[in-house]
Amino acid sequence: MHDPRTLALPEPDPDSLGHSKAVAAYVRERIAGAGGSISFAEYMHLCLYAPALGYYAAGATKFGQAGDFVTAPEVSALFGRTLARQSAGILAQLDSPAILEIGAGSGKLAADILEALAAADTLPAGGYCILEVSPDLQQRQRNLLAERVPDLIDSVRWLNAMPAGFTGVVIANELLDALPVERFVRRAGGIRQVGVASHAEAFRLVERDAPDKLVQAVEHIEATIGEPLPDGYASDVCLAVRPWVADLADSLATGVAFLFDYGVGRREYYAPDRSGGWLRCHFRHHAHDDPLILQGIQDLTSWVDFTAVAESAVDNGLEIAGFTSQAQFLVGAGLEEALADFARMPTAAQLRLSAEIKLLTLPTEMGENFKCLGLMRGAFEPPAAFGRADRTATLG
Ligand SMILES: C[S@@+](CC[C@H](N)C(=O)[O-])C[C@H]1O[C@@H](n2cnc3c(N)ncnc32)[C@H](O)[C@@H]1O
Repeated sequence: MHDPRTLALPEPDPDSLGHSKAVAAYVRERIAGAGGSISFAEYMHLCLYAPALGYYAAGATKFGQAGDFVTAPEVSALFGRTLARQSAGILAQLDSPAILEIGAGSGKLAADILEALAAADTLPAGGYCILEVSPDLQQRQRNLLAERVPDLIDSVRWLNAMPAGFTGVVIANELLDALPVERFVRRAGGIRQVGVASHAEAFRLVERDAPDKLVQAVEHIEATIGEPLPDGYASDVCLAVRPWVADLADSLATGVAFLFDYGVGRREYYAPDRSGGWLRCHFRHHAHDDPLILQGIQDLTSWVDFTAVAESAVDNGLEIAGFTSQAQFLVGAGLEEALADFARMPTAAQLRLSAEIKLLTLPTEMGENFKCLGLMRGAFEPPAAFGRADRTATLG
């Protein structure tokens, strides 16, 4: 999502406040049941995904101007149109392919891609599948697609798990940043896990003994960057990435996965001056760094260590198709061609589109912080989008 400003937070409305109190009470119960504290990853999971309560599971509007943040598909249909062009080139080389979108949000990207593929007569024979963890968002996606692409809705299927033997193109925009992260502190005596405890109405961060898998993950990070993290260094690590990528690798028989998100390679992620980590909170278009407030009504998200994603992919038998910035990806994937009718548009539409392109591609906006990692399996022409400025070497 686009990081807007860090100013005083707006007051939540009474309904949202009531909902947040219910989520906080639920989290407090879980903390009490666990003996006084839970890991930060569990806290983040509850705040985002607790059934009927969590940020993504409950009914509030999250995306776009009326919500808390904007994502690339919400900024402009050009994102989906360009991605559709790139996907069509791959789909054409495969036998009975489909598209699988994971974490489809409002459903806007699916609608934009389906419209663009239909207009170019390149709809995939296997249809469009959506894997979405939130029942509320699944319903919103159904509603939006029924409104935007009524003739194509029958080609859309919602899945409960990654499909076996999938052939085609997998798309996940801002999915990885929504996976819960562990927080840790490097102490001279070893790795400590950051947990969350509650006291009266408030929550606080505590240090706890780290489970083996967290210690091993941090030791692995230190081994790959070639030196121990300094004493007192605090950061995040997403242990959920490895199993998620393993599931993707199991599923993808032939094709490409495009994973878009804000993130960096591991050396930058764990650079000495980046102690404190990469967690961000989003509430009504304000970005801040206090995850212990507004439970269930603000988004919690962490930048992605793309080295971890690439490593897991290679360990699970996938190839890296490429790694580049969102701006370079869009230009390489045919952003200009997707704008073919620009000159014939009314001036107001041209101005609107120019503003959207700036937001998607300028380095000071979404163009540079957002990246695309491409993963692939099979013998076909690799996606052209990575041809311009492949940065895979920066992931080492
Ligand atoms: C930050 S939102 C991005 C939504 C959309 N892709 C966009 O760009 O506007 C994250 C999305 O991923 C979904 N999600 C989170 N974890 C998931 C998982 N393990 N499998 C499928 N969907 C997931 C959320 O419910 C939500 O739809």
